[in-house]
Amino acid sequence: MPASLISGLRSVELEVADIPASTRFYCDTWQLARTTNMGDATYLRATGAPSHVIALHVGAKAALRSVTLNARDRASIDTLAARLTGRGVRVIGKPAAINEPGGGYGCAFLDPEGRVFRVIAEDAVHQDTASHPDRPERLAHVVLNSPDNESASKFFTDVLDFKLSDRTRIMDFIRCNRDHHNLSFAKGSAATLNHIAFHMPTLESVMKGAGRLRDAGYPIEWGVGRHGPGNNVFAYFVAPGDVVVEYTAEVEQIGDDYQTGYPDDWQWPPGRIDHWGIAPPPSPRLKEAQAKIGFRVG
Ligand SMILES: [Fe+2]
Repeated sequence: MPASLISGLRSVELEVADIPASTRFYCDTWQLARTTNMGDATYLRATGAPSHVIALHVGAKAALRSVTLNARDRASIDTLAARLTGRGVRVIGKPAAINEPGGGYGCAFLDPEGRVFRVIAEDAVHQDTASHPDRPERLAHVVLNSPDNESASKFFTDVLDFKLSDRTRIMDFIRCNRDHHNLSFAKGSAATLNHIAFHMPTLESVMKGAGRLRDAGYPIEWGVGRHGPGNNVFAYFVAPGDVVVEYTAEVEQIGDDYQTGYPDDWQWPPGRIDHWGIAPPPSPRLKEAQAKIGFRVG
């Protein structure tokens, strides 16, 4: 089996109505750092190597503009673009140099539900990557809602070499590296953004981060708990624009020998929706926000 063309999840590009308010939240409270501005966009990094993990663009209301994956190398981009074209996928950006902070070489396409995905290789990376206990290290995963979540994930396993890690009654978890999941598709009434998860160094970082968010007026909307698939700890919050964000840690690291789980393998005892069973259920506000953010039609 050849290695996956895709090596990881790099960034999300969001549209938000109030860039200063979102920038304050993501920098002062969420603990990302602004790297630069270009055009209307503000670029924010975590402590890890990727040039940025969020680009904030101006929009009338919050929307997911695109999700950006990293490819292994420039040849992978060309291979992928040819494969996408051969499968009848709409490639909206042919392989070319990327004109934005981080640069690199990449292409863009629409997935079957019309979301914009970009794949970039050979983009610039930061050398100062020391972890900090209070700061996110990188994106962990993006969860997208889909009226047909199994077909949505099948596109990524069939065409982009992702692997199905686990399937529950309502979610498909797929991976392109050792993280249990980098993308997940949740059953929903429409194609929308469910949430964006940021990897924190430790469980302690998630706990202290949750306290920092609460102090800043952002209550924990779900958590702190430990998920089933992925075995990661979690705490969910609603960021400006009603974007749902998650602090997570201890995401299970797996390899090709991982036994894919199916709905019968992921049954919770009555009253449980996480391993610890101490957190209240997700708040009504979280549930509303998890189905609210659309994506820009490419
Ligand atoms: Fe998550």
